[in-house]
Amino acid sequence: MAAVVVAGSAWLLAASPYPRPTSGDPAIPTRVPAVFPSSWRFPAGAHATFAQHAIVASNNRLAAEVGAEVMKQGGNAVDAAVATGFALAVTFPEAGNLGGGGYMVIRMADGRTDALDYREVAPLAATRDMYIGADGKVNGESTIGPKASGVPGAVAGMIEAHRKYGVLPISKVLAPAIRLASEGFIVDPTLSASLAAEKYRIGGFAGKALFFPNDAPPAAGSRLVQPQLAVTLKLIADSGSRVFYRGSIADSIAAEMQRSGGLITKEDLARYRPIWRRPIRSVYRGYTLISMPPSSSGGITITEMLNILEAYGPTRPFGSAERIHALASASQRAFIDRNSKLGDPAFVKVPLATLTSKEYARGIAKTISRDHADATTRLASGLREGNETTHYSVVDGSGNAVATTTTLNDLYGSGVFVRGAGFFLNDEMDDFTSRPGIPNMFGLIQGAANAIAPGKRMLSAMSPTIVLDPKGNLLLVTGARGGPRIISATSQIILDVIDHRMSLADAMSAPRIHHQSLPDSIGVERGGVEPSVMARLTQMGHHVYELAGIASAASIMRVKGGYEGVDDPRSHGGAVGF
Ligand code: DON
Repeated sequence: MAAVVVAGSAWLLAASPYPRPTSGDPAIPTRVPAVFPSSWRFPAGAHATFAQHAIVASNNRLAAEVGAEVMKQGGNAVDAAVATGFALAVTFPEAGNLGGGGYMVIRMADGRTDALDYREVAPLAATRDMYIGADGKVNGESTIGPKASGVPGAVAGMIEAHRKYGVLPISKVLAPAIRLASEGFIVDPTLSASLAAEKYRIGGFAGKALFFPNDAPPAAGSRLVQPQLAVTLKLIADSGSRVFYRGSIADSIAAEMQRSGGLITKEDLARYRPIWRRPIRSVYRGYTLISMPPSSSGGITITEMLNILEAYGPTRPFGSAERIHALASASQRAFIDRNSKLGDPAFVKVPLATLTSKEYARGIAKTISRDHADATTRLASGLREGNETTHYSVVDGSGNAVATTTTLNDLYGSGVFVRGAGFFLNDEMDDFTSRPGIPNMFGLIQGAANAIAPGKRMLSAMSPTIVLDPKGNLLLVTGARGGPRIISATSQIILDVIDHRMSLADAMSAPRIHHQSLPDSIGVERGGVEPSVMARLTQMGHHVYELAGIASAASIMRVKGGYEGVDDPRSHGGAVGF
């Protein structure tokens, strides 16, 4: 038998291949110790941050501290999420933002659920072929510079979430972000290195003066003060999102666009609206998933993938070739649908009910062989072959939960920095299909459903997700950054917790795999798969390639007596609670 990585002895002992809960409280089943390949860089059995009452997990520790601080002042999970979001715009400028957009999935302790879509939209002047040059090739303007930006939704979204669910005054929610911008914060090695690596992107625009004084990024240990951003945040605290979309900040954005040749106008900004949507609710092995509907593809794709796996039936243990084959084949098929059928529901008819139905998944599961791979081109004749974001999870003392993912797309977005207002604009336009058959920056080959049109939201992979246990109690709050790999990381964390009974820390450390249909290959994390398993996958007909890392998540899990929070070991943030 090929060496397989076993997630614990319960795999071998239980009659069912899925370990049964053994603790007194069936809602919090005993975790099974994970075993990872010896070549894997993260040890199994790591510790999570425990909090009795309330907790925030984020890719940035300072922002997580802000969320916890706001809950200590009496704020609920939505106040904390909004405060964390504004703080991220200050302390984590590579991904936290005012000039981008995102999604928030909310589950209040009384059982209400909600999903806020504050994704960017294409400017009114955008056209389907705007990134195709005279030579017929994609011209690169969707990834850097002034034409790459969609109309930002972040400020409207965060203010709207607070309006509907927050309990603290917005001035209190924004106070920590204003303080961090005006008084500054100590730059950590991660921020200094990230700025240095992205100098080529930032250096061509107005953020150069702030982030590269004397031509170098602020050193770790120095203080970064952002006076313009502090004024912008204060204006938002005083006048709400109106000042951003119709007032002086809108003037600054429109002026920046005019100076540099971008498309966003004051009319675009005035028209922007966040949208409350009904979350996608699905059930996997008795656990309920509450996730993000379109304009994100996250909820549908995760639901379809998990439904396919459920119908496919039990597989071999974690890390085995059979398990990876099943995961990859389910993912490949769900991504075929994602890449060809999903888009902004205001512009295309999304077959949501079909794609999330168990019956549909049963049909697809039958197409997966037990021992060989199928070519994407055979499964999807219509498809031709041709990172930056941040997630945070919050639970408050009443059990309200919020999963939020927000992004500028690339690190520091388009690089364009709004003079007079102090923030970066996104390069989210690259998430559209610039040209069918041609991969975007994540190698995604997408179809006409996600073509550019004025006022349209570009399809996203962001997957903020809340999981309830079979009794309907909150179990998990999760989500990730990492483009399409967000979907893989989020679904595998959920599977590691439900199928493999891993602790949250192990589920976050566990090696991940990725298959997005095209390229027709399985991406595996370096050192995360046993050589014998790699050989078996290749024998099955899979093309396997190594990746340095697959996404970066931030999750919270309910445990006995409270919650555990874990920022991804692939990231440098933390979880903070009390
Ligand atoms: O919305 C999306 O799917 C992408 N713009 C997310 C980009 C991302 O996660 C980059 N971060 N590493």
